[in-house]
Amino acid sequence: MNIIEVDKLAKYFTYKKGKPFRKKKVLSKAVDGVSFSIKQGEIFSLLGPNGAGKTTTIKMLATLLLPLSGRASVKGFDIVKNDHDVRRVLTAVLPGERTLFWKLNVRENLHYFGSLYGLKRSYVNEKYNELLKFFGIEDKRDTLVEKLSTGERQKVVLSRALLPDPEVVLLDEPTLGLDPVAAISLRQMIKKIAGKGKTILLTTHYMYEADELSSRVAIINKGKIVCLDHPSKLKQSLAAKKIVRITTNTWNDSINGRFIEKFNADAVDMHRRNEEFHVNFKCGRSLSMNDITDFLSENGVKASNMSLDEPSLEDVFIEKTGKSIEEEEVGSAG
Ligand SMILES: Nc1ncnc2c1ncn2[C@@H]1O[C@H](COP(=O)(O)OP(=O)(O)OP(=O)(O)O)[C@@H](O)[C@H]1O
Ligand SMILES: [Mg+2]
Repeated sequence: MNIIEVDKLAKYFTYKKGKPFRKKKVLSKAVDGVSFSIKQGEIFSLLGPNGAGKTTTIKMLATLLLPLSGRASVKGFDIVKNDHDVRRVLTAVLPGERTLFWKLNVRENLHYFGSLYGLKRSYVNEKYNELLKFFGIEDKRDTLVEKLSTGERQKVVLSRALLPDPEVVLLDEPTLGLDPVAAISLRQMIKKIAGKGKTILLTTHYMYEADELSSRVAIINKGKIVCLDHPSKLKQSLAAKKIVRITTNTWNDSINGRFIEKFNADAVDMHRRNEEFHVNFKCGRSLSMNDITDFLSENGVKASNMSLDEPSLEDVFIEKTGKSIEEEEVGSAG
């Protein structure tokens, strides 16, 4: 059964751009007609670069933003017409938000939010102990939130979100700002939460995170979903390929052409930085480092760096969008 249904959901923003007194209104299509559905108990990831529209999608589902057009429902409740019911079914954890009171301790925070959720004190007492134990921070119950580490604070934020026992949890970049060990532990927690039958929609920039956690991933770029599938299938779409990366100060169009012809390669990207060419190709899996070094010596190319990699998120991105994430970020910053 689908617990979340999203159909051609869109949200545009306008902002002013230009010189003082000559500013013009510009339309930003933050979310531009996304559609997907999530099954009960599933972990589903929205993966994409900065400004792709991930948070805006989450905020609309959490009833914090009204959509411009399209429809979405959570457990059959429309996010616009039945927003109260939606809020009873889900909780959202957004990054960088002051979702806890720093001058209160962990126990006081959870009691405070419990009362906002309309929960009975006896229920909160039992539930928060269970949650702190689940996250392994029961010894922090009397510690002020301001004295917790980022990872511990994130676990309290998750405890707060799980206090009303929601069926759906929306997590916007849950591992942001965590060190690798804390991020691994949090990913384990997310799997455990899903193991309890909760449905999780999370956003991330990291392919490996989406890969490890989710049963399905939607790659979102400029407000549109560019592909949606099981992580393994997404990788398989490029799995027939390896990525060759060469850095050299001797490269030209004819060498480029010979490389493409010899290895039946696809040129992915070529740019010049610090007097050096950085060239990337997609090639068949049978290609070896020896083949490349032979080619380079035959053509008198000295490489300062060379690698033969499995496709990364960026490679999937280039394939699906025709642009690199770096380019996207420079473009949006500009
Ligand atoms: N309140 C707002 N007013 C105007 N524009 C906004 C607003 N919120 C978001 N945007 C714009 O909408 C686009 C999508 O933003 P969003 O926060 O959804 O991206 P994101 O995928 O979550 O990015 P990130 O990975 O950086 O968190 C961006 O171009 C952003 O500048
Ligand atoms: Mg975001």
